[in-house]
Amino acid sequence: MKEKVVLAYSGGLDTSISINWIKEKYNMDVIAALIDCGQPDDFEDAYRRALDLGACKAIIIDAKEEFIKDYIFPSIKANLKYEKNYPLATAIARPLIVKKLVEEANKEGAKAVAHGCTAKGNDQVRFDVGIRSLNPELKIIAPQREWNIPRDKAIEYAKKHNMKINVTKKSPFSIDENLWGRSIECGILEDPWEEPPEDIFKWTKITKNQNEFEYIEIEFEGGIPVAVDGEKMHPARIIEKINKIAGSFGIGRIDMVENRLIGIKSREIYESPAAVLLMEAHKQLEALVLDRELVHYKYLIEEKMAEMVYYGLWFTPLRVCLESFITESQKYVSGIIKVKLGYKNFSVVGRKSKYSLYDKELATYDKEDIFDPKYSENFIKIWGYPYELLGKKGRINE
Ligand code: ARG
Repeated sequence: MKEKVVLAYSGGLDTSISINWIKEKYNMDVIAALIDCGQPDDFEDAYRRALDLGACKAIIIDAKEEFIKDYIFPSIKANLKYEKNYPLATAIARPLIVKKLVEEANKEGAKAVAHGCTAKGNDQVRFDVGIRSLNPELKIIAPQREWNIPRDKAIEYAKKHNMKINVTKKSPFSIDENLWGRSIECGILEDPWEEPPEDIFKWTKITKNQNEFEYIEIEFEGGIPVAVDGEKMHPARIIEKINKIAGSFGIGRIDMVENRLIGIKSREIYESPAAVLLMEAHKQLEALVLDRELVHYKYLIEEKMAEMVYYGLWFTPLRVCLESFITESQKYVSGIIKVKLGYKNFSVVGRKSKYSLYDKELATYDKEDIFDPKYSENFIKIWGYPYELLGKKGRINE
């Protein structure tokens, strides 16, 4: 009996030709695993195609709920962004895909797993490191990396092997999509001076006028969104709804040059309206309910955790520890945030919470003020005492 390999199958050209290639090169039975993290693919169609292309078995795994609960929620709680901008949509889905792939390989008694990552990106790191940490026995096959075949050659290969693949319209872009965002690279975008053409956008197609605006209220409980405009909703619906409203204003477009783990700088465009808006709203709620020291320290944890996710270090002790810090910090992050949406822009314009630490009687400059000015004078004396001493000794630091 032949050995088995579980392939993370997307239904696209690259993973499709991989089925044949793996069979020829490694003489293995290929199980195609379609892992649904909310990408808008036609899974039934891809399922059939995998079998037509010679996979011995195909499976569709619905990972959406798990994606939300174990990956998107921690992202919101941690305001997770790489290099302060990228909401990590592609990156946070990888450990989940890896987990499902390895689970399937274990179930099937497969000796190997395969993925479609190239040799240039971060995703190969996320796959390989994740797979090795979950099951070090598994062999990793990466046809794109091993074969390194250009796209036109891939189409030729598909034709030569009579594969039914629709590649009539060749898109110059590489696109990755899931519930949390859409990533677009390659083609004209490889020139960082070139403005992204309007037609690459799908989630942020602008249908609003420049002077239109709209308000939405987002309610959080323990750091996660639970309602929009007073209506309780399943988190997937909240994400969808905000993607739709904010997207129609062109909110959530990110155009950046980022530092990949393997050292290359790359230019990528992201569309993540819900991620951008929810995390900003969440951050503003934290500003209201958390004390200063926690907020400031949390910034450091957030940045480190974003790096860990980007670098493919999900299944690691440090990521787990950082996440438990984040979880513990969210107990009182409950309340409502009012957001004003406008053309390609939004701002938080109101916040309230039963755990608010904002004390109007202390903050006000009006007559209701209860603040004792003597406190300040004395506090500042003690606060500045070490420097007063230096000054007295003539040790001036200008
Ligand atoms: N640069 C992003 C990351 O490493 C996205 C990678 C995938 N992008 C794409 N357009 N296929 O997480």
